[in-house]
Amino acid sequence: MSRLRGKVVLITGASRGIGRAIAEAVVAEGARAIINYRSSSREAEELVRRLKESGADVLGIRADVSREEDVESMFRVVEENYGELYGIVNNAGHGSAIIWNKGFNELTWGDFEEVINVDLKGTFLCTKFGIRLMRNGGSIINVASISAKTGDTMGIPYLVAKAGIIALTKSMALALAPKTRVNTVVLGSIKTGWINWLSDSEVERLIRYIPMGRLGLPEEVARAVVFLLSDDSSFMTGHAIVIDGGECTACD
Ligand SMILES: NC(=O)c1ccc[n+]([C@@H]2O[C@H](COP(=O)([O-])OP(=O)(O)OC[C@H]3O[C@@H](n4cnc5c(N)ncnc54)[C@H](OP(=O)(O)O)[C@@H]3O)[C@@H](O)[C@H]2O)c1
Repeated sequence: MSRLRGKVVLITGASRGIGRAIAEAVVAEGARAIINYRSSSREAEELVRRLKESGADVLGIRADVSREEDVESMFRVVEENYGELYGIVNNAGHGSAIIWNKGFNELTWGDFEEVINVDLKGTFLCTKFGIRLMRNGGSIINVASISAKTGDTMGIPYLVAKAGIIALTKSMALALAPKTRVNTVVLGSIKTGWINWLSDSEVERLIRYIPMGRLGLPEEVARAVVFLLSDDSSFMTGHAIVIDGGECTACD
């Protein structure tokens, strides 16, 4: 299929996990993909090489999305190479087991800042600088979590950042309509690197809460992101698609 033929799409945090699956999926739909990463240069370069070998137009750019100067220069490189942009997938996430495992009493405000700076500030900055290149409109996808809707005893800075992303998505959708659509994917437990933080018995316990009886796969998230990027979702903006195997049926 080629639902994104020739469209330039930037994916943040695409060196591994869900971001990598999104990059592969948008390329499979004919997009020209910009692979952002911060520190996993080996993984990012390997992905860029593999996608280029398949004939795709792909560019890797290192930038820390929490740093305004990095984001500004990343979009300068995008402009120099492509001139314009159609889509942004704000996928980069902090991902620290140390902060995740702190209970409320152990947290410092610095922990909140560290996570919010990547997830929420990064989403804001990439949209702020990226939108200038989306002259003909397009589609922006943000990435949130079901824990933002339920609350939790662990990962509190993370779920606060993700709750901010849900609110920001709605505001961005209103501000950028009608040219640019903005939606979010709200994720349950998806099988990426963080699963290695858990013991087998903890994974088993987690799965008991998922009606589908398993973890989600990055590719399953990527298919929803392609839908939201493409004209298949042309009348959708300001909304969320929940991808959680039924874990959060009582959230709304
Ligand atoms: N997996 C889940 O169950 C789940 C559930 C709910 C929501 N999510 C959200 O889905 C997104 C992807 O999750 P994942 O599980 O695929 O995470 P992951 O495997 O930890 O990958 C995170 C990605 O974000 C990048 N990143 C981290 N800090 C960055 C920064 N400051 N600037 C640019 N890139 C940065 C990493 O790049 P480098 O390695 O190069 O630093 C990496 O490519 C995140 O927003 C996460 O919060 C995931």
